Amino acid sequence: MKKPLAALISVIMTMTLMFSLTACAPSKAVNSDNSGAKKKIGIVQIVEHPSLNTIRESLIKELQVKGYKDGENITIDYQNAQGDQSNLKTIAQKFVSNKYDLIVAIATPSAQAVVSETKDIPILFSACTDPLGSGLVTNMDKPNGNVTGTSDAVSAEKIMDLAKRITPDIKRIGALYNASETNSVSVINNLKDYAKKNNMTVVEGTVTNSSDVQQTVTSLVGKVDAIFSPIDNTVASAMPVVTQIANKAKIPVYVGADSMVKDGGLATYGINYDVLGKETANMAVEILKGKKAGDLPVKTMKDMNIYLNKDTAKAIGINLPDDVLKAATQVFGN
Ligand code: TRP
Repeated sequence: MKKPLAALISVIMTMTLMFSLTACAPSKAVNSDNSGAKKKIGIVQIVEHPSLNTIRESLIKELQVKGYKDGENITIDYQNAQGDQSNLKTIAQKFVSNKYDLIVAIATPSAQAVVSETKDIPILFSACTDPLGSGLVTNMDKPNGNVTGTSDAVSAEKIMDLAKRITPDIKRIGALYNASETNSVSVINNLKDYAKKNNMTVVEGTVTNSSDVQQTVTSLVGKVDAIFSPIDNTVASAMPVVTQIANKAKIPVYVGADSMVKDGGLATYGINYDVLGKETANMAVEILKGKKAGDLPVKTMKDMNIYLNKDTAKAIGINLPDDVLKAATQVFGN
């Protein structure tokens, strides 16, 4: 056992050492509160599909570019709910009870789950199509409270205008979506308004989970001239199935996101999710530096691009018009 004086000296020495270490810590350490504690970020994603993965990867990469690296000066806990609502709730509750410094929720169902669990921890939602209609915020410019984020709002009207340039004779349009995804419902309402104005009939094709998709698409065959699917997580996870059935029946499928075109949809007029991931990271940095989430306006993407799939066009026997091909940002297939 140490003698009292020796013990005291050793305590003083340790404290001096700790003080000098803190004082000399490289300015690269980006913890805003100088506590030296690593900030903890929880990322929750509703399901695995290419677009949401792109967003997450781009977000993590951009955080690193901005000096926030997982395992070094921040800790990232990434959880995927595998498309299951009850998993979402469990993950959200775990993040809250762990008192993370920031929760990033990718896609609307994840954001809704997190928002209902905490009013204190900053929440940054990512790629939510309709943050207002989904009840995430009550004001896009001044969200207030602990919530803000990025939106991938698209226009059903713009997508349908593109659809008519490619396949002008659409009279009956199948609406393929999960009616419990509020992000999809608002775009489908938009589609219904468009249909009314343009003498089209909308044929409902709702699904409740991705295993329904095959049966629902099959049931639309013979009843529709084209299918429209919004930025729907359930449909996006089953896009290869949609493509297989629709291509066989030679039905064009117009979609809400580039990844759904890559997975066989014919065309979209949509946003770039890599950019959206980066924008989400920029907002995360502001919050990590101490800004209040509710003081940051919700960011809506402005860059709208045409995405086409040539393989699908061939499979269903249509020619993509030259002017549309020229206007496209990205053409998938050969
Ligand atoms: N916008 C969707 C939502 O609000 C999430 C999403 C982002 C998405 N990219 C996608 C869905 C691509 C389907 C396909 O939940």
